[in-house]
Amino acid sequence: MDAAAEVAGITWQWKEYPFGAEHWLKHRKGLPTLMSEEDMADLGAHDAIYFGAVGDPRVPEQVEQAGALLWMRFYFDQYINLRPAKLLRGVPSPLAGKKAHDINFYVVRENSEDFYIGLGARFTGRQARDELTLRRALYKARFQVDVDLDPGDELAYQIGAMTGKGAERVIRYGFELAERKHLTRVTVVHKANVLTKIYGLWMETAERVAKEYPSIEFESAIVDATTMWFVRRPEYFQVVVAPNMFGDIISDLAAATVGGLGFAPGGNINPDRKAGVSMFEPIHGSAPKYGGLNKANPIATILAGKLMLEHLGEERAAELVEQACEDVLEAGKVSTYDIGGSSSCSDKGDAIAERLLQLKP
Ligand code: IPM
Ligand code: MN
Repeated sequence: MDAAAEVAGITWQWKEYPFGAEHWLKHRKGLPTLMSEEDMADLGAHDAIYFGAVGDPRVPEQVEQAGALLWMRFYFDQYINLRPAKLLRGVPSPLAGKKAHDINFYVVRENSEDFYIGLGARFTGRQARDELTLRRALYKARFQVDVDLDPGDELAYQIGAMTGKGAERVIRYGFELAERKHLTRVTVVHKANVLTKIYGLWMETAERVAKEYPSIEFESAIVDATTMWFVRRPEYFQVVVAPNMFGDIISDLAAATVGGLGFAPGGNINPDRKAGVSMFEPIHGSAPKYGGLNKANPIATILAGKLMLEHLGEERAAELVEQACEDVLEAGKVSTYDIGGSSSCSDKGDAIAERLLQLKP
């Protein structure tokens, strides 16, 4: 990122935060979150957050996921999860016969609703009433759930909620993205044939929003069939808007078609800076089994930086970052283990930074 800044003449100040496993073990052990409320307010004062990756076996998963990653997404109302899948020059696709840029589409994943809201409960044979509250910047909703169960029986439920406002803003973002990138088709993914309530609202909203963009083709696609088409004809897709959980799943699949999670960045975006800061991260976790080995592919994280630059309005720098990645990948001299090479993570990062500096006008 600093090489990109140098090339594009950007000046910025980094503030590094220690919110990882070590920090939690030392200062917050037993607490449900990696950061404190004050830490969150502090993070929120920046123009953007460049986030590493979560996952350390010494810390409960809940702490790193609900207590850090998902917390940032909800707290800063980062309701867009933008996940581009682009087959870069020099990267082999597991799909036969694909050339560079044949696969080039965006998954726009809804990032604040659906089955990710974390409301639900488990019961063993009893009567119970749950009061569940969902609080978002956009709305507040309360649910009461009565459960009456035969003794000894087990039951678990989890609520997936969708709101008209929540659906509309992400679907609209998908169409706006298509316009901005001169694309011609938006595919909205669902499972309304079975989950008729939640994705019924989602698709009705999509149909309504689509009418406002008559020059863009709108298409609906059932999620299971979509996974098949991602493999059979990925070239077809341009912008794919998906509810949170399906978006999680299909974006990993999309990543696989362009070389794997080592090439898959994500932007957790609140388009309104005043309403919340945005956060950029690779879509992969920290791969703890490779911890300390200096062998992970840094490209997903570097490309997350590219998304951050775009978000900050630094289009030219963003383009150059991708070009530098591609130039290094295509030259093939520095290649990480995930695509059959043996270079280290830092060698690869250094090579990309060097290449970027050569691109300085
Ligand atoms: C992702 C991850 C997260 C998610 C997990 C770690 C909570 O899989 O960013 O895709 O499910 O959103
Ligand atoms: Mn995921």
